[in-house]
Amino acid sequence: LKGFPHFMLKEIYDQPETVRNACRGRMIVSEGVSVLGGLQSKMEEIKNLRKLIIVSCGTSYHAGLIGRYIFENLTDLNIEVELASEFRYRRLRLDETTAVLAISQSGETIDTLAAIREARRKGALTIGLVNVVGSTIARETDCGVYCHAGPEIGVASTKIFVSQLVILNLMALLIGRYQSVSLNEGVAVIKALQNLPDQISDILAQASQLEELAKTYQKYPNCLFIGRQMHTAVALEGALKLKEISYIHAEGYAAGEMKHGPISLIDENFPTIALLSNDASYDKMINNIQEIRARSGPVFAITYTGDAQAEKVADDIFRVPETHELLQPILSVIPLQLFAYYCARFRGTEIDKPRNLAKSVTVE
Ligand code: F6R
Repeated sequence: LKGFPHFMLKEIYDQPETVRNACRGRMIVSEGVSVLGGLQSKMEEIKNLRKLIIVSCGTSYHAGLIGRYIFENLTDLNIEVELASEFRYRRLRLDETTAVLAISQSGETIDTLAAIREARRKGALTIGLVNVVGSTIARETDCGVYCHAGPEIGVASTKIFVSQLVILNLMALLIGRYQSVSLNEGVAVIKALQNLPDQISDILAQASQLEELAKTYQKYPNCLFIGRQMHTAVALEGALKLKEISYIHAEGYAAGEMKHGPISLIDENFPTIALLSNDASYDKMINNIQEIRARSGPVFAITYTGDAQAEKVADDIFRVPETHELLQPILSVIPLQLFAYYCARFRGTEIDKPRNLAKSVTVE
């Protein structure tokens, strides 16, 4: 545990190294491209793909939702993202121009495995993004990429989520550079990946600020997380982290849905964590915060370093460094992991082994 009281906290602090391990030997800066040995044997098929379906569960599903944006931005593929437990029961039209990408830390999740088996039966190429070397999903997919993140012991997934997001960028870059992505666009992603470990360390150095905020927010029985675009999935992940280890009821929502229902929950006892980033959704998020504040809802905003508005409208803010737009979720999820961790600590729950949960779900 290297002096950490819980594996979860250790694994959160491992993340600069996790990013380095995910990238090691996998990038050629001057060509703006990635090298993924595990996909090499199927590269001809991969180059001719038209559609990619991402299947996974839980936190790995949230990585898949962010993966959709990454692939849509860096490749010309059509992308679908599906919960593995739902994918299995669809009437699917799969052929050799479709690949199914399974994302799984353990490589043993029964629904994800069943989805891969179904995809293979129907003739699709199957690709794994797995952490545990030699696991069943790693063995049963046609090709794949490992996270190389070492074991993740805490039941709540943290460093593997970050690793998955890094590798989704590398995979998309590999395919995209055969399609329309330019050299400069490729170089920009790779340079941003190289800077990530230090940026993550900067966030970790401010953990005490999140501990302070958690002291206040853990007193509320409920918590809403909102974001837009890629940060909708970060909101889902922040809510999952908080609910699974602190047992605070938490929901993640696309901020654009607020007026379609959830805003009726808001009062002075129902806080919202709002995720802002420096992109086209920024003004709309500020608007969301103002609407929540107008109904007396406490708001804690996670925003970027140069933002001048959030501190004026939110009750509390935490700033993360700016990076390439496609990598921003990697930085914004880290304060949410720490926030969930500290809330759980104040509430005295069993952080590394939450009640009713297992690290890998091998039975339905
Ligand atoms: C949440 C969590 C789970 C897993 C899910 C999938 O913190 O850890 O939601 O992400 O059970 O597991 P893998 O990635 O092993 O297929």
